[in-house]
Amino acid sequence: MKKILVTGGAGFLGSHLADKLISEKNDVLVIDNFFTGNKNNIAHLLNNPYFELMRHDVTFPLYVEVNEIYNLACPASPVHYQHDPVQTTKTSVHGAINMLGLAKRTGATILQASTSEVYGDPEVHPQTEDYWGRVNPIGLRSCYDEGKRCAETLFFDYHRQHQLQIKIVRIFNTYGPRMALNDGRVVSNFIVQALSNEDITIYGDGSQTRSFCYVDDLVDAMVSMMNTPKEIVGPINIGNPTEHSMLELAEIILKLTGSKSKLVFKPLPSDDPKQRKPDITQAKDNLNWEPKVSVHDGLKETIAYFKKVLGA
Ligand SMILES: NC(=O)c1ccc[n+]([C@@H]2O[C@H](COP(=O)([O-])OP(=O)(O)OC[C@H]3O[C@@H](n4cnc5c(N)ncnc54)[C@H](O)[C@@H]3O)[C@@H](O)[C@H]2O)c1
Repeated sequence: MKKILVTGGAGFLGSHLADKLISEKNDVLVIDNFFTGNKNNIAHLLNNPYFELMRHDVTFPLYVEVNEIYNLACPASPVHYQHDPVQTTKTSVHGAINMLGLAKRTGATILQASTSEVYGDPEVHPQTEDYWGRVNPIGLRSCYDEGKRCAETLFFDYHRQHQLQIKIVRIFNTYGPRMALNDGRVVSNFIVQALSNEDITIYGDGSQTRSFCYVDDLVDAMVSMMNTPKEIVGPINIGNPTEHSMLELAEIILKLTGSKSKLVFKPLPSDDPKQRKPDITQAKDNLNWEPKVSVHDGLKETIAYFKKVLGA
């Protein structure tokens, strides 16, 4: 039985990852400071003898014995990561240093949940892993984007300097049940607005595109990445390359919810990337992975979850 640490495991992605690791008969320790995470996301695991929850902030060192570390701790939505930008950078950078230090001490393999935000507002489309990105170092999103970029640097330097076994995945927009209600991400925003029959807010003219990956697909890819041979370190893009404009997404959600909401248009926030789409050739070749869940099926599951949470 492997002892596996999931940082940020009470969050959206971390809680689904913990579910999968527990279902595969591992011994799982989740640490979280509950900044954006929620005990409800993992309440169903608390009585499992192979599941353990610890309140801990990754900006402080931690000493535990583990074989694998999935480093997910970090607020992921602009509303949350811009709330305390200094803490966001500390979480990415000091968090990475502390978790890499733990991996060095225990000999654990460590996987970093990096992000498509490392590409910034890209000039290359779709984004391949060898693209270095176009990131504003001093903007409102920089605490997150540059923090994640620095974390990748630290991972590679620990790998080169201390021979640590590292894995980096660059996650593109992912959605599904347990996303926070009020995190301002487009999928949760649109669904909550549609279910409450409120206006659906589109930033810009709605022509900007995003690709959306369903959480089950994402978690499968993360676990496959962790289990690759040690020469495979990444970074590897994980996401769904099928693109949807914001207008298209709003229309699918209106249809699936049967909502009477109207679309309203507001100015684009600063540094909002116009287009984002992963090239997933490396994930296909190295992980034998590609997303299976259609946006239609994934949204149905997500809407069912939000209906329950909202009592709609
Ligand atoms: N969801 C996405 O579309 C997406 C895309 C790219 C990257 N990611 C990355 O995946 C990871 C998980 O994202 P998510 O969508 O589940 O977000 P989330 O906000 O739901 O989860 C993050 C978790 O980390 C915890 N956390 C934050 N700061 C912490 C700290 N200092 N110490 C301990 N715990 C802390 C939060 O309480 C929360 O439980 C993040 O690192 C994020 O950057 C997510």
